[in-house]
Amino acid sequence: MLECTNVDAGYGNVMILHDLNLTVRQGQLSAILGSNGSGKSTALKTLAGLVTPVKGQITLDGKRIDGLPANAMAEHGMCLVPQGKEVLAGMSVQENILIGAFHRRKDKHGIAEDLDRVYAQFPRLKMRRKAAAGVLSGGERQMLSLGRALMSRPKLLLLDEPSAALAPKVVGEISDILRSLRETGLTMLLVEQNVSMAVELAEEIHILREGRIAHSRLNGPDFDTSDLKAYYLGSGT
Ligand SMILES: Nc1ncnc2c1ncn2[C@@H]1O[C@H](COP(=O)(O)OP(=O)(O)OP(=O)(O)O)[C@@H](O)[C@H]1O
Ligand SMILES: [Mg+2]
Repeated sequence: MLECTNVDAGYGNVMILHDLNLTVRQGQLSAILGSNGSGKSTALKTLAGLVTPVKGQITLDGKRIDGLPANAMAEHGMCLVPQGKEVLAGMSVQENILIGAFHRRKDKHGIAEDLDRVYAQFPRLKMRRKAAAGVLSGGERQMLSLGRALMSRPKLLLLDEPSAALAPKVVGEISDILRSLRETGLTMLLVEQNVSMAVELAEEIHILREGRIAHSRLNGPDFDTSDLKAYYLGSGT
């Protein structure tokens, strides 16, 4: 579904990603692990059209999408849940969720159905639908960001560190939600620093180091995580 081939990208003259090659198959959940500053968010921003590659190509379902603006990427079904759990603090939970469906705002019936589905997936958001998003806990904000993203009917969901700064119990809840989304057939690319969460959920794991994929491996029952840290830190080969 997603093919990213030999992509270089960065900010101004500073290149962050070098020869990024990545494939995500339909229905697959892949993960990118990497330490702070390795370029994980830059990779997701590039896939979502917020950073324009200077080299290489990105295709989604065979259609070339690199160089398209972020709103056009979104219309192709690419949806980024950014790092930092940003919400519009002064607006209600429900208003925040509905923003995700803005580009198809005339489809009132479809939106009502999707909203019901999001509330079924996130009962806590339903309970708090009238609350100002600014008063939500970190876990609730992460759920809100996810719920908002699902309203756009994504083909490919890009998740930037959904477990960051959350208590272990809440990380478990987020994992459960991602697992149930995977069961619906949704294709996802998960960026994480939480190795155990990524290994629990992902079918393929990539390690990003200094803007390059240093290692890629298919997950399986005998998956050994003991050397992943070495790949992260640069001593693995
Ligand atoms: N808007 C920007 N302008 C210039 N440089 C940036 C910008 N955003 C990120 N960078 C730089 O790009 C590099 C990679 O940053 P990026 O945010 O992609 O890393 P990351 O792997 O997501 O890190 P973290 O785990 O801390 O979120 C860093 O050196 C960072 O300083
Ligand atoms: Mg980041």
